[in-house]
Amino acid sequence: MPSKYYVETYGCQMNVADSELVAGLLNDSGHTRTTQVDQADIILLNTCAIRDKAEETVHNRLDQLAQLKKEDPSRLIGLLGCMAKNLADSLLERRPYVDLILGPDSYRRLPQMIQDRKSEHQQLVDTTLSRNEVYDELIPSRGDGINAWISIMRGCDKFCTFCVVPFTRGRERSRAVAAIVEEAQAAVASGFREITLLGQNVNSFTHDGQDFADLLASVAQLPGLERIRYTSPHPSDFDAKLLTVMAHYENISNSIHLPLQAGADRILTRMNRTYTSEEFGTLVGLIREHLPDCSLSTDIIVGFPGETEEEFQATLNVVKAVRFDSAFMFKYSLRPGTKAAEYSDQVEEAAKQDRLERLIELQKGISLELNQAYVGNRVEVLIEKESKKSSAQWAGRTKSNKWVVFDKMNTNINDLVMVEIDACHGIALQGHLVGNLEEYNAVA
Ligand code: SAH
Ligand code: SF4
Ligand code: F3S
Repeated sequence: MPSKYYVETYGCQMNVADSELVAGLLNDSGHTRTTQVDQADIILLNTCAIRDKAEETVHNRLDQLAQLKKEDPSRLIGLLGCMAKNLADSLLERRPYVDLILGPDSYRRLPQMIQDRKSEHQQLVDTTLSRNEVYDELIPSRGDGINAWISIMRGCDKFCTFCVVPFTRGRERSRAVAAIVEEAQAAVASGFREITLLGQNVNSFTHDGQDFADLLASVAQLPGLERIRYTSPHPSDFDAKLLTVMAHYENISNSIHLPLQAGADRILTRMNRTYTSEEFGTLVGLIREHLPDCSLSTDIIVGFPGETEEEFQATLNVVKAVRFDSAFMFKYSLRPGTKAAEYSDQVEEAAKQDRLERLIELQKGISLELNQAYVGNRVEVLIEKESKKSSAQWAGRTKSNKWVVFDKMNTNINDLVMVEIDACHGIALQGHLVGNLEEYNAVA
């Protein structure tokens, strides 16, 4: 019998894309989506296990859902995503009201499992990881934003010692270029102006002798596609060929997310990151040579096991030298089952907190300086949504991934416009419209 389902997504963009796949599958099976959790017959949480805080959030949410289930025991509660694999056993024991547990490679079975669970009185679990599942030919049910997420590869073989992803998502596998291009084409045809190619390790993409640069070039040639982004690349898999492709195609975003993680070589080795800080610096130089205006963002972990104050200083030094436009900064979180969890020299919470605050302070100053350099410039902005602060203003991003806020005037979401930057006090730039780009181009 068809049901109403509700999906809540935690974690990274891969999970957002997976939730769209799951929604596509359920729609095809005759179910309908609701955005009201209390009206749903099936409640699905697509979970993240990257840090203990992410897991805690899901546990708190499950506590709340237990109440809903008590009110109406015919409701099904399903747990999907990265917590499924690692925590299936303890979840089954601790939370008998969870009906379904499915890992990231088992979603094709979801419609059948929903049906089975309605007749069987036991919890159903499938957390098998696959060597080849890439969900080709499934059609995701996308939200109505301006960006379409497209997963191009799944899994990760890097085994950074802090990271749970290789365990929760399994081995690396890539989709066929033709299937990806077809999906991108369909997204453009249905009105998306921007696509983001996704993978935990996006530039280790390889299929039938074609690498990530080849794929990017194929996608960039699609008519009508204004912007292409991708995330996350691994520094060790980056090469000049990819930079040449990025420099060649106007519609490829002028920004790179390049996760540093740490600045001291001993820590990088212990993390199994497979590059030194010098190699990272050389790569940044190469990027700036090919793409002089490219913005850079990064991920950094403080308080990795054994990190001394001097080693933390090495991280600060790299941050000062590279001057990233922005950074996601985290305290190391011990993940059971990973190599780093076995290290006996875990750093104390107070030291982690202190280092995080100092790093954030440094980065904030750098971000502000780099953003202030935009004041007086004209930038091309793709309008994405209403500004959180004022309903009279739009928020959109530049090709270099900067948020810009400005008065709406007579423009709309999805328009590509020219904005002159007037000020910057934090992360977002403030500006005013100087024209609609389509009109601008027509005159020029
Ligand atoms: N595949 C991507 C990152 C995926 S996870 C990459 O390699 O860049 C996103 C970020 O979470 C990582 O870059 C890392 O900085 C952080 N992270 C991963 N595991 C973590 C842990 N155990 N504790 C704290 N941060 C972690
Ligand atoms: Fe995790 Fe490293 Fe793989 Fe990124 S590359 S997902 S940090 S193991
Ligand atoms: Fe989290 Fe899984 Fe993504 S652990 S960050 S949802 S790959």
